[in-house]
Amino acid sequence: MANSERTFIMCKPDAVHRGIVGEIIKRFEAKGFKLVAMKFMWASKELLEKHYADLSSRPFFPGLVSYMSSGPVVPMVWEGLNAVKTGRVMLGATNPADSAPGTIRGDLCVQVGRNIIHGSDSVESANKEIALWFNDNELVSWKPASVDWVYE
Ligand code: RTP
Ligand code: MG
Repeated sequence: MANSERTFIMCKPDAVHRGIVGEIIKRFEAKGFKLVAMKFMWASKELLEKHYADLSSRPFFPGLVSYMSSGPVVPMVWEGLNAVKTGRVMLGATNPADSAPGTIRGDLCVQVGRNIIHGSDSVESANKEIALWFNDNELVSWKPASVDWVYE
């Protein structure tokens, strides 16, 4: 069902240190998406290298892995209609210099190497990332009381 599309969203270590995790979660909740999984953890370099494997040949890759492993992160799964695409729109452009005001990056950060949040770029990557960060038994099956007021 289209309403059950899932995306992998993660607050990066700068979001945790800056105390804006709540602000980020708030936006996904307020939008009407359903929280399926969330945890607080310090990710290993190995896990982050797998997560960003597609970027391994890029010059910024070592810095990216070091940034992402420099503190705790908050990986999450959010579900809803067009969750992947809409999630990316809510994040804003990769470089906060280009992120529109009103987006998470546009409102809350300044530099590309400290851009506070990750979001899956396709349904295929979302499925891969969800499987990489969560076990099946961590994905919670539930029906929000608001569902009939979010979807017609
Ligand atoms: P993300 O995967 O973290 O959601 O970000 P994205 O899709 O918007 O951008 P992507 O190309 O996948 O890049 C992943 C992360 O690498 C860092 N980056 N630094 N210094 C640079 O030029 C540069 N380019 C990318 C950013 O933290 C970016 O989010
Ligand atoms: Mg990406």
